[in-house]
Amino acid sequence: MSRRSWLVLITVLSAAALYRDRLRAVLEQASANVRDFDLPSAGAYDALVASVLEGFYDRVAGEVAAAHPGGKVLEVGSGPGRLAVRLAREAPGMTLTGVDISGAMVERANRRAARAGLSERVRFRVGDVAALPLPDGEFDGVVSTLSLHHWSDPARGLAEIHRILKPGGEARIYDLAHWLWLPARGGDRLARLTAASPFGEGQVEVVRWPGSVPAFVLLRLRRAGEARS
Ligand SMILES: C[S@@+](CC[C@H](N)C(=O)[O-])C[C@H]1O[C@@H](n2cnc3c(N)ncnc32)[C@H](O)[C@@H]1O
Repeated sequence: MSRRSWLVLITVLSAAALYRDRLRAVLEQASANVRDFDLPSAGAYDALVASVLEGFYDRVAGEVAAAHPGGKVLEVGSGPGRLAVRLAREAPGMTLTGVDISGAMVERANRRAARAGLSERVRFRVGDVAALPLPDGEFDGVVSTLSLHHWSDPARGLAEIHRILKPGGEARIYDLAHWLWLPARGGDRLARLTAASPFGEGQVEVVRWPGSVPAFVLLRLRRAGEARS
């Protein structure tokens, strides 16, 4: 090796040794973000992750629109608002409220609804699923995609979703499949969570997307009682 190559190698190794802790912290944060399907900003999430999920949102929008064509629907953890806007186009009689804990996501989602000319029917606001800023028994349906694994208190979240649903109302909560989660969060956690919630029982289904990849799960919950229109 030439003297210059030795110098470069020694400089790189010294820098790696000096900044070892910083490097480790950056790598740990990056791997936590990938694991949690999270990105440091609403814009990056919208452009890099949500934009490749359009086919998934189409499918979810079709299912929710068929269930509540003219109803009031709440989207929990609505992020940049791609699903809600799709849903509103699919079901012209539906009104949608999106709640997200991130102000940046809510701003982005409201801009998207305004650009689509849907602000009258589609509104987003800041809120935590564990303390929804909404009245009891208001919604025919609830939908949520890829948000549940972020909730700091999922049990409280399910209790709140139960509270704001009308009797007979249904929640459809889609999340990453167990094998994509941390093992400690996987297994039959959703079934246990549901059993301990005011819903008492629910269905956990595997969702195959993209293609036949079982990448998602759907938790279907129904509030007891007769649905009234
Ligand atoms: C991975 S993103 C999914 C966003 C969107 N549903 C989608 O499918 O693209 C998770 C979203 O859940 C929101 N979130 C996390 N914890 C929340 C909570 N406790 N209450 C409400 N929203 C929450 C985050 O701010 C983020 O927008």
